[in-house]
Amino acid sequence: MHRVVCPGSFDPVTNGHLDIISRAAAMYDEVVVAVLINVTKQGLFTVDERVELLREVTSQYGNVKIDRFHGLLVDFCATNGITAVIKGLRAVSDFEYEMQMAQMNYRMAKVETLFMTTNPLYSFLRSSLVKEIARYGGDVSGLVPETVLSRLRQRLAEE
Ligand code: PNS
Repeated sequence: MHRVVCPGSFDPVTNGHLDIISRAAAMYDEVVVAVLINVTKQGLFTVDERVELLREVTSQYGNVKIDRFHGLLVDFCATNGITAVIKGLRAVSDFEYEMQMAQMNYRMAKVETLFMTTNPLYSFLRSSLVKEIARYGGDVSGLVPETVLSRLRQRLAEE
């Protein structure tokens, strides 16, 4: 049984995240998508909302589970019998930071990190840009799932 984790903030989940999650789901027995609970950083969506959105947009994958964690990712891995972290690499700019985390996680707990190159359609995509563009009235359709798009519009209208 190979159980892997796709960790992140997912504020909110984008089509780039979904691309990596679905490809990981096709390769491993179980994929745990783990939302970081970050008490020092307030997101646009609460952790509960992010989890709910992730559940909705991954419902077609029987082997994808959504969870949340705080503290070290390697501790979450140990508690949940996870041996590897799956990360998407968009561009060289991601590489240095991701490499440091991967090496640190391996050093701490022998947790492996496996990188997938993102679909080039989404290589420029990140949640913070989606939020910024949507906040100023730009069009982000096609970059996030439909359900996220409507929740995003609703949330920004409330602001
Ligand atoms: O979507 P993000 O914000 O780029 O995800 C970053 C995340 C959650 C993968 C990373 O910050 C993380 O693993 N945080 C948990 C704390 C931890 O383990 N820190 C040590 C990393 S070597």
